[in-house]
Amino acid sequence: MVLKMAKSKKFQKRIIISIIILILMIISYFVVQKNISLKLNGNSKDKIIVNNAYYEEGYNANLFGINLNKYVDISNNLKNDIVGSYKIIYKLDFFIWEKEVSRTVIVEAKVNLENEEQNNQEKDEENSKSDTTTSKEQVDVKIPEKNTENLYPAINGYENIEIGPKYVNGILIVNKKFAIPQDFKSPDADIASGALKQLQAAALLDGFSIELLSGYRSYNRQKTIYEKKVADRGYDSADRYSARPGHSEHQTGLAFDVGSITYTYGETASGQWLNANCAKYGFIIRYPEGKEEITGYGYEPWHIRYVGLEAATEIMEKGLTLEEYLGLD
Ligand code: DAL
Ligand code: ZN
Repeated sequence: MVLKMAKSKKFQKRIIISIIILILMIISYFVVQKNISLKLNGNSKDKIIVNNAYYEEGYNANLFGINLNKYVDISNNLKNDIVGSYKIIYKLDFFIWEKEVSRTVIVEAKVNLENEEQNNQEKDEENSKSDTTTSKEQVDVKIPEKNTENLYPAINGYENIEIGPKYVNGILIVNKKFAIPQDFKSPDADIASGALKQLQAAALLDGFSIELLSGYRSYNRQKTIYEKKVADRGYDSADRYSARPGHSEHQTGLAFDVGSITYTYGETASGQWLNANCAKYGFIIRYPEGKEEITGYGYEPWHIRYVGLEAATEIMEKGLTLEEYLGLD
């Protein structure tokens, strides 16, 4: 009898402990469910113009300050070469907890603004033909009336700007730190254009048509492009892939966007040809993958910069950035 009572008490105890554990588990489930978060960086609705790269701003999955980004899967049906509305879906799958958020990306046709920008670019190009190209000695002492320090917040690498043109070992460096005056264009711009034509001809012989998409851009043209990006997506995003006026290599006449302005261009046969052969014509892929911390900009497989044969060969063979090659990193 005593034994029976003891057994039943033990049983009761087990039941109570089990119930407490179950209640604790249910409470934990809801506490985690309430606190686990998955948020998008940037806008939940974005727009790009057809055939432009889409810059994914990322996401943040978090539980009590612990980063859970590695538990997030991303899927999307985005085709940036076809006009339409697309969704990028982010799914957090952390043990029994799940969260899902999505971002809509609208791929728009080239509308009036784009045409207007195109016209402006053509005008810029015409104006630039009548510009007297400034020599290295002359421009060393030239100070622009305005520079980006006065126009935009000193953030995202633009904290300590020096107005150049800055040459290191005879190579012009234009980046977030080193700006060029508003009316500056490189004296080597024509040489760079000639080298591009040679590159295109060689590519054609190998079966690749590498089209020029954007070459010289004036200070004002760059200002329009940059400020539109800021209006659309804010400074932090714009500063990752669009140079502020006075900081773009396009203003030098030494840089060209070619092939296709899409991230995946570097994986195509044409993009790979460009990567493997550009140095033979004096060009480098200026913003390589994984070097954003050094160059200040995300990967741009389409943006080539003329630096001359010797520098280009070493930079491309060793997988360097221009900053690293010049000892400015
Ligand atoms: N996309 C490059 C950084 C430029 O705007 O010059
Ligand atoms: Zn470019």
